Amino acid sequence: MKVLFVCLGNICRSPTAEGVFRKYLAASPLADKVSVDSAGTADWHTGKAPDPRTCAAALKRGYDLSMLQARQATADDFHNFDLILAMDKSNLANLEALRPANSRAELDLLLQRYALPRSEVPDPYYGGEQGFEDVLDLLENASQALLAELQERV
Ligand code: 4NP
Repeated sequence: MKVLFVCLGNICRSPTAEGVFRKYLAASPLADKVSVDSAGTADWHTGKAPDPRTCAAALKRGYDLSMLQARQATADDFHNFDLILAMDKSNLANLEALRPANSRAELDLLLQRYALPRSEVPDPYYGGEQGFEDVLDLLENASQALLAELQERV
């Protein structure tokens, strides 16, 4: 089972999702059965590490994102991943436009999939520090729900 998290720039939300979910996964029986990656719909930050504010907020909660490098989502991702999870509705619309006709991947809006109180992970890029904490709170809840789903499925 291969899971891909997608946001706009791949330097704030989706690398956070990748780091949080990786940590949950490592402590679960699914550690060697599920692989995880993240990407952005834009190519603006390709090759760069996550935003320093993202890294700092994540590290305070024990998630080390320093080894991650941004990349753009591609049509091939729809053949290479089983589950592609978008952070917001705009990311989802961009992914729907990229999706090849014969793709095997399941595409969904992450928070909506688990009926969490909010349906989107808000973009923290232009805001203050609290935005990065909110992203972590939302993604910790979503990662727990995703892990529970995969424990049923894998
Ligand atoms: P992300 O946040 O999609 O969560 O990585 C953003 C990062 C960069 C930009 C926008 C959103 N930007 O405009 O460069």
